[in-house]
Amino acid sequence: MDIRVFDSDCEIGKAAAQIIIDCIKTKEKPVLGLATGASPVPTYKCLIDAYNKGEISFKNVTTFNLDEYCGIPASDKNSYYTFMHENLFNHIDISEDNVNIPSGNPENVEEFCSAYDKKIKDAGGIDVQVLGIGRNGHIGFNEPAEKFTKGTYKVSLTESTIEANMIYFDSPDDVPREAVTMGVESILDAKEIILIAEGAAKAQAVHDMIKGAVSPSCPASILQRHNNVHIFLDREAAALL
Ligand code: F6R
Repeated sequence: MDIRVFDSDCEIGKAAAQIIIDCIKTKEKPVLGLATGASPVPTYKCLIDAYNKGEISFKNVTTFNLDEYCGIPASDKNSYYTFMHENLFNHIDISEDNVNIPSGNPENVEEFCSAYDKKIKDAGGIDVQVLGIGRNGHIGFNEPAEKFTKGTYKVSLTESTIEANMIYFDSPDDVPREAVTMGVESILDAKEIILIAEGAAKAQAVHDMIKGAVSPSCPASILQRHNNVHIFLDREAAALL
């Protein structure tokens, strides 16, 4: 694991964006795996800057998002569809045809999930996957469980995740209880992974991910088994290492 501790979110964003920029510059058809939430926002800002400076184009880039809430439409202000468009896609030259975000409300969940996994494989697999980490060690919305999950599936969110997500919603009752997420195995299939964690609330999960046993009780701990992972932390998130 390439573990680096930075002084600011902005520096983390620059370092993470540089890995993605290198991928976009060197691959003919780069495939990015993207996360929502606070952690990747500075990275997306740096990517938008690089695009505005003419350093990179997203014309040949395909993206797959990790997850989407169930029970709210894609047009909802809190959907991950909206988040990705506001924080990245609306500001770059990516083709909407190349943007893939799981549907949170598919008619047939199983069919949708296996088609999503197939689409990732058909695109050649994910070159660089961006991840955040939950306070409970989740990656994507793979919550602590008895087994590591495989492909994309519908998951019930834990109370800790629902509580962490509350800050974005007007009322606690509006916070979705379920999501469609890529599974742990699909995440591990990525050729290169960047996990970003910021803030003291992540310190225990970061410790368990890096120093703990590889166990589905801390889903992020599986990253110890991947051979090309970057863990980018601020000082607070790294405090227990
Ligand atoms: C988001 C996702 C989640 C978040 C995690 C951290 O697409 O899959 O695993 O990365 O909950 O969220 P933030 O970055 O808001 O602390």
